[in-house]
Amino acid sequence: MDIAPFETEQFFARFEFNTPWQLCNSDCETVTVEELMSLAGIPLDDLGRQRLGYTPSQGGPALREAIASSYRSVDPDEVVVLGTPVEGIYLLARALLEPGDEVVVLTPAYDALVNLFEHVAGADAVRRWRLRPTADSWALDLDRLDALLTPATKLLVVNFPHNPTGFLPSPGWHRALAELAEARGICLFCDEMYFGLVHSGTPPIPSTADVSAHAVVLSGLSKTFGLPGLRCGWLVVRDPNLRARLINWKHYTSICAPVLSEFLARAALQARDDLRCRSIERIESNLALAEAFFARWPGRFEWRRPMAGSTALVGFDVPSVAALSERLAREEGLLIQSAAMLGGDDRHMRIGLGRDNFGAALERFGDWLGRQ
Ligand SMILES: Cc1ncc(COP(=O)(O)O)c(C=O)c1O
Repeated sequence: MDIAPFETEQFFARFEFNTPWQLCNSDCETVTVEELMSLAGIPLDDLGRQRLGYTPSQGGPALREAIASSYRSVDPDEVVVLGTPVEGIYLLARALLEPGDEVVVLTPAYDALVNLFEHVAGADAVRRWRLRPTADSWALDLDRLDALLTPATKLLVVNFPHNPTGFLPSPGWHRALAELAEARGICLFCDEMYFGLVHSGTPPIPSTADVSAHAVVLSGLSKTFGLPGLRCGWLVVRDPNLRARLINWKHYTSICAPVLSEFLARAALQARDDLRCRSIERIESNLALAEAFFARWPGRFEWRRPMAGSTALVGFDVPSVAALSERLAREEGLLIQSAAMLGGDDRHMRIGLGRDNFGAALERFGDWLGRQ
């Protein structure tokens, strides 16, 4: 079976560990194990006492309890801990979709949110619901969605806060979307990997899991909490039959999460407010740098301020961001990413606001622009 290239991950596999200045990471600055344990108030020695056995397939009860407590209405039994966050997208596609089912996916999007559903349901069965640029932001139209839905639509895939645009719906619009999915009997799948990264001035929304008992939610520690190396993610799945099918699929993919990830994930959830605040503070200060930077180059960039998340999508007046990104990586040690990889166009680039050296990378980018 031919599968689509995972363009974003192939791009980062080539450049992430050999390019010193990176402007396009979606994760937030990480911490050391020592820092994490100290933030959680747990002695470092406790790590050494962990026994390296299997963990329960659905996730250890203590971790599922800590995860459930971060929602208003979720029971620990409704949480499925994953081997990695991205695994949750595959498991849902496998557990939910039958031949003939159709899927509508918000786009642009992190590759897996489109490609995995195409692999499982067939490319013809996946329709794209496009975010629309407005003068200074992004919008999603419910009437456009309505036109994409058919009696065969089984699943609607969204991602809030959105990677790459930073779009976040208003609380009323978010509720209306959940009601629309419920009324049509469609499973609403919301990827909430960037949950809690809401920029000042944007009204926050609750988790989709707390808005609709029929929704499935993906979340994890990679982005908001800056811990992508833990590979810790989870799904909230209310429907017991779907949950059982999904866990059965998981026996074939990862069986269970690594014991050290579970242990450190429990520590991270104890320190979640500190970790999230660190990320949001860094994002807001990088956002100020980005706004000042793009204002200095009017005509070259089209800037739309993100509402939430750790990324933004910026229009760049070059023939091909993809071609330029190869050149900048090679010649300048500077990484930018084309939105074409994410289902956008090749005249937009994703920028990532969560890293400490964002300002230094931006300066490097400014030097290069100045030399053109
Ligand atoms: C929207 C979204 N969902 C899921 C993932 C996967 O997360 P992880 O890489 O931690 O598995 C990513 C990673 O970039 C993402 O941006």
